[in-house]
Amino acid sequence: MSPDAGAPRLRLLVTGCNGQVGWHLQRTLAPLGELLAIDIDQIDLTDLNAISETVREFAPNVVVNAAAYTAVDKAESEPDLARAINVAAPRQIARECGFLGALMIHYSTDYVYDGSKPEPYVETDPTGPLGVYGQTKLDGDRAIIGSGCPYVILRTTWVYDIRGKNFLRTILRLAREKDELRIVGDQFGAPTWARMLAECSALIVARSLEHRAARGTWGESGLFHLTAGGRTSWASFAEAIVDDYEELRDPAAASGEFAGPLKTRRVTAIATDEYPLPAHRPQNSVLSNAGIASRFGIVMPDWRTQLRLALQDAIRR
Ligand SMILES: NC(=O)c1ccc[n+]([C@@H]2O[C@H](COP(=O)([O-])OP(=O)(O)OC[C@H]3O[C@@H](n4cnc5c(N)ncnc54)[C@H](OP(=O)(O)O)[C@@H]3O)[C@@H](O)[C@H]2O)c1
Repeated sequence: MSPDAGAPRLRLLVTGCNGQVGWHLQRTLAPLGELLAIDIDQIDLTDLNAISETVREFAPNVVVNAAAYTAVDKAESEPDLARAINVAAPRQIARECGFLGALMIHYSTDYVYDGSKPEPYVETDPTGPLGVYGQTKLDGDRAIIGSGCPYVILRTTWVYDIRGKNFLRTILRLAREKDELRIVGDQFGAPTWARMLAECSALIVARSLEHRAARGTWGESGLFHLTAGGRTSWASFAEAIVDDYEELRDPAAASGEFAGPLKTRRVTAIATDEYPLPAHRPQNSVLSNAGIASRFGIVMPDWRTQLRLALQDAIRR
């Protein structure tokens, strides 16, 4: 019999486990306890009864809600669905967490801000979403905060990974097809690797567990910015993607998504007006990470370091 056979195991529920962040959460949270990882195939989060049934049956100590409606432009024409997934579902999860005394970890977005502030946003800055997605995410944050459950909301920006739908993969695909990449250069943010977010989320859960063991509570609930360090534009991010890819790729590897030469590394910065989309984006998406550093002692690497680590993961498997 193992020495810890009698110790109660922590139970963690992860939603959106096939998404960018959720995929990595399955790995980073696994050492902390028994994990139930679900996505839409197991439970459609628009079904509020199914949410309640699942949470009550599994009785988790921690719920990490990585599921969301993230199609920013499509949300303009599907506001009801976006609202169901981004507001009603987190509200229901939060209620159930409240009944159980479970900690809820949730993700928010820079799209809750209007982007007009020249400096990095801090958590107390006024919000002002420019579109449906941002508004639903903001209302989801408010629903959790108003629920009374113990929570940590992590507000992040420009998430990418080596799998899933994201800017990194789009740029590498376009750089194989086109002679020139014309990318918006007047919006600024900090591209954040999904795996880094999942690693930090696991650290936050672990620190909250330590707090609970020492003092009997999860610690003060709060909303924190959590992004890569630094600042760049989409155009400069695209340049870094193609440059780092060409530098890191294995010349001997001829096929596969992260193998073979690109057709172009030429990136031309264009204005937002030259690339009209259904949803408006904030011009400044840079968020200050001072709050999370002081509360949890977490400082994410800068965006360029994260990009190289992500590409190394893809290229040097
Ligand atoms: N991506 C970004 O740039 C970004 C930036 C800031 C904040 N965030 C926030 O960070 C969190 C994680 O984002 P992400 O990029 O990992 O998102 P993602 O890759 O789009 O993953 C979201 C997951 O939720 C699932 N989902 C959607 N509707 C569902 C439903 N009705 N029932 C159950 N599951 C459903 C999706 O499944 P399907 O794929 O089948 O729909 C997907 O697997 C989200 O809260 C997001 O708002 C993201």
